[in-house]
Amino acid sequence: MSAVLLSGHEVAEALAAELAAELATLPFIPKLAFVRVGEDPASVAYVRGKNRLAQRLGLATELHALPEATTQAELMALIAQLNAEPALDGVLLQLPLPPQLDSKPVLEAIDPAKDVDGFHPMNVGRLWSGQPTLVPCTPAGLIRILDHYQLPIEGRHAVIIGRSNLVGKPAAALFLGRHATVTLAHSRTRGLEGLARQADILVAAIGKAGFVKPTMVKPGAIVLDVGISRVEGRLMGDVAPEVAAVAAYLTPMPGGTGPMTVAMLMRNTLDAAQARRREPCG
Ligand code: GUN
Repeated sequence: MSAVLLSGHEVAEALAAELAAELATLPFIPKLAFVRVGEDPASVAYVRGKNRLAQRLGLATELHALPEATTQAELMALIAQLNAEPALDGVLLQLPLPPQLDSKPVLEAIDPAKDVDGFHPMNVGRLWSGQPTLVPCTPAGLIRILDHYQLPIEGRHAVIIGRSNLVGKPAAALFLGRHATVTLAHSRTRGLEGLARQADILVAAIGKAGFVKPTMVKPGAIVLDVGISRVEGRLMGDVAPEVAAVAAYLTPMPGGTGPMTVAMLMRNTLDAAQARRREPCG
């Protein structure tokens, strides 16, 4: 048996078509700003991919590519300027930042109404309270993949490995919101292998290439791979390829969860644009 591959490309294209149709009905063009500091090759590639999809859909975009040596004050000043721009709907600060910069105050400075990454503490609080809000793109993409392939979440045991603010924690909130039983595991979890084997839905978001081995997967489980590492020039996920022989469904790497992160950012930008125009707050 080999797992059915859950194509993020397929789901992202379906979402893009839905967004294009929705955009055509809007009396305005949503606008998204990208802020990138430095020239980290992965960040350059991610922002380029996000910008490409935004432009293909017909969104307006602007790119602020700041030098590696940007100061905290300079970055905060740019965020204040973007917050104050009435025609701008979304601000995406690509992470990670160079070491001299502290991302926390910058993320907190982004207007929550323009926070298309869903990283502002107010949006995080709304997410955990079950209120409608802008939700982090990668975990939102996981849910979207499962929904697209009609794989039920309610009542299932979702084990998430990795407790980052970007993926693990918001994924836990989203799965809980969909009535899964959630276990949030991490590097200090005892008995991780046995715990992972209990998962109906296993999310690997640790950032360690090939970490999830077949012995950690219940036969017939759904495995969602969020990891991306470069090993000897090759891209690898957090899930070892041999897991395909045990899982029933598996996201491939590349072409799995990655394209969904980009597509969900567009979903968030449209949502932010519409919400801001309903309740203007800056
Ligand atoms: N870096 C890695 N993932 C992400 C993400 O989802 N958003 C941003 N802004 N930066 C990232």
